[in-house]
Amino acid sequence: MIYLDNAATSWPKPEEVYTVMERFLREAGANPGRAGHRMAREAERMILETRTRLARFFGAPVPERVAFTLNATDSLNIALKGLLKPGDHVITSSLEHNSVARPLNRLAALGVEVTRVANDSVGLIDPEAVRKAIKRNTQLIVINHASNVLGTVQPIRELGRIAKENGLLLVVDAAQSAGHLPIDVEKDGIDILACSGHKGLLGPPGVGILVLKDEIPVSPWREGGTGSRSESPVQPEAYPYRLESGTPNTVGIAALGAGVAFIEKVGLAQIRAHEDMLVNRLLEGLRSISGVKIYGPADASLRTGIVSFNLAGWEPVDAGAVLDHVYGIAARTGLHCAPWAHEAIGTFPAGCIRFSTGYFNTVEEIDQAVAAVRELVRSAA
Ligand SMILES: Cc1ncc(COP(=O)(O)O)c(C=O)c1O
Repeated sequence: MIYLDNAATSWPKPEEVYTVMERFLREAGANPGRAGHRMAREAERMILETRTRLARFFGAPVPERVAFTLNATDSLNIALKGLLKPGDHVITSSLEHNSVARPLNRLAALGVEVTRVANDSVGLIDPEAVRKAIKRNTQLIVINHASNVLGTVQPIRELGRIAKENGLLLVVDAAQSAGHLPIDVEKDGIDILACSGHKGLLGPPGVGILVLKDEIPVSPWREGGTGSRSESPVQPEAYPYRLESGTPNTVGIAALGAGVAFIEKVGLAQIRAHEDMLVNRLLEGLRSISGVKIYGPADASLRTGIVSFNLAGWEPVDAGAVLDHVYGIAARTGLHCAPWAHEAIGTFPAGCIRFSTGYFNTVEEIDQAVAAVRELVRSAA
């Protein structure tokens, strides 16, 4: 299998991730608890270690500002529904994944005002258009760092500056950038960062992350047991337990820690350089085939490892099925849970074909994928 669906879930994982999952489940797979028995204490120690690693990785001031959730969708729901109330105004983009778009639609039905700033032809949002959209009742800006359809990387630091100058919160959906691009919540002016553990951070599915720059009072989402302050009749105010209740996914968190440790060992710059090289090669190969329409920035440095395209004579869903069945290539076709992004680039409702590379892809795999696309286009001519 040539796996080019890393934007959905990265695969394979570093060997350490598999090893830690099994070892943790066998040796310390107990409920974490500070005052408990030794297996419980080991689980608690590991969670703190992973929290600390992630805080360092994303520039959060203290480990307690990293909360574990289910996935990026969960983190975004917690942030948006825990901050916005009827009468508030929020600015977003037309490129958002449904994990932002749907919560905002629900909030809009409850009286939250939503402005969607349009993107240019390659998916870039103009920070000045965001500034112009600010109103008296604007509370926050929520935007993806990198589009899951186009790979386009947004000027987050500039948006952070605009948010700060206007007393707004910046919530960033980093599902497609975490583990691919450097992110520092302090330097980038990100108030809340939401991302998945199972994509660029190379962990298993089942863990999401929410990072807070400051002690922003996000309303608790799920209330219940936190393993501490059990005498309190209500959810603790302090982070991270304000947003964490119930038995956490200890095995997933342990393995996520191993994924991030791998990234630290290899170096984000090295990972980025490898993915850039693959994307350049992919773009070059696809551009050499007439009948391929590529979306997003021409310059690989303005995108992540995502390349989306359509083929003359092919419906994306059919092309995806042939790539899988005949060529053993895993691609993602359709709307990628981002219908507005497809409307913005004129590919709604059929969508397009998305190849998304990862650190473990090779040049040979990219060349085989390009050769398969060439044959597909030829067969339809
Ligand atoms: C930009 C973006 N945001 C959010 C999500 C949702 O991530 P998760 O599956 O971890 O909830 C995705 C998933 O593909 C995404 O690409």
